[in-house]
Amino acid sequence: MDTLIVEKSGPLHGTITVSGSKNAALPILMACILPTGRIVLENVPRLADIHTSCKLLSILGCHTTFEGDTVTVECGTLNPHAPYELVKTMRASVLCLGPLLAVLGEARVSMPGGCAIGARPVDIHLSGLEAMGASFELAEGYIIGRVPRPGGLKGAHIVLRFPSVGATEHLLTAAALAEGETIIENAAREPEVADVAGFLIACGAKIEGHGTSVIRVQGVDRLRGATYRVMSDRIEAGTFMVAAPLTGGELFLENCPVRELDAVIQKMREMGVGFEERPGGLLVKSGRELVGVEVETLPYPGFPTDMQAQMTTLMCHAKGLSMVEETIFENRFMHVMELNRMGAEIKVKGNAAIVKGQRGFTGAPVMASDLRASASLVLAGLAAEGRTVVERIYHLDRGYENIEHKLNAVGARITRAKS
Ligand code: EPZ
Repeated sequence: MDTLIVEKSGPLHGTITVSGSKNAALPILMACILPTGRIVLENVPRLADIHTSCKLLSILGCHTTFEGDTVTVECGTLNPHAPYELVKTMRASVLCLGPLLAVLGEARVSMPGGCAIGARPVDIHLSGLEAMGASFELAEGYIIGRVPRPGGLKGAHIVLRFPSVGATEHLLTAAALAEGETIIENAAREPEVADVAGFLIACGAKIEGHGTSVIRVQGVDRLRGATYRVMSDRIEAGTFMVAAPLTGGELFLENCPVRELDAVIQKMREMGVGFEERPGGLLVKSGRELVGVEVETLPYPGFPTDMQAQMTTLMCHAKGLSMVEETIFENRFMHVMELNRMGAEIKVKGNAAIVKGQRGFTGAPVMASDLRASASLVLAGLAAEGRTVVERIYHLDRGYENIEHKLNAVGARITRAKS
């Protein structure tokens, strides 16, 4: 397993180009099962999870190519079986269930396991699909789904018990080919949901209200292949936003999705970070001494849970106390024990963490546990005295395209070691 060796770096200065969004590209790839004809997806990040998705699509009967940042997909005769070996490595693959039911009327998809940050059930996904006429049984770790009526799924009025991002994307995708109208209430408003809708509309779907909490879909008979550019990754951008003030530097984030990061920018401004919107991106400046803040993670447009770990690292650097409340996932503080090994002073009480600022980081061997926790440790290593060795960075490679190359290009000192 690879490790990243991070030396004290900075101040970081220069331009970082933000890649396409992992969390938009993954559901869009699963939605590629629906259209007939060739699909071209541009601005797709070169990440482990994207390769896994392309492999899954191939197993399901779709021919895929991935050159540069462009993925092409063309589906032939579909196969309804998504195997455990693939789904276990990437839970977003469960989103192939709805499209398979919509096109084939049957599906056998491995039940996605939980992960480090939580149990991550899919009950909201399944109950929405059941409302659209699907029936499910669980056998040998697989979700076996059928649509009893010929002609596939039917439109339904669905109220989500929680604005689940994946469930909203899943039901939106299944509804595109369902018969009649589907209304999804209490839908997730994340920009990635709107990007999935944008892709489906490019393929001929009839969708309104995406990006709001009420989405209406008029089912159509067929969807055709199209070319679509995936949005920029707001969480990758937010991660690099932290690297500038953490090292006392200044970074221009090219292709940064600024509006979609309002909650993060507002909180970092409160801490004392400077921002300047410029054509084509966002300039992040180290300003005055950072001060502690309170953050509560919420569904969009609230502060994103995927930025919680990175923000916790920045809080360690700020003056005074900070507090983070994690309301989305039940176990998303694993970075805390590793940051404390680097000299931070963070106390976790229930779903909140209290951060004592200005403790300074000292380099240490640390263990990555999930994607965003790994990023927070790399960021801490940039500001730590001495050397930090981040192990198990396969977590990182799932969500960050060439993170060490992008950071080294602006003055970081990170090397990848094969262990
Ligand atoms: C998406 O996960 C993202 N992943 C996550 O990003 C992100 O943290 C999350 O949305 C929240 O913004 C992708 O888009 C691939 P949810 P998802 O369904 O769809 C519970 C990253 O680091 N829930 O909104 O799985 C669930 O357990 C990843 O890039 C149910 O109880 O998130 C969680 O507590 C991590 N039943 C909460 O809802 C369900 O059927 C939010 O989950 C579905 C979800």
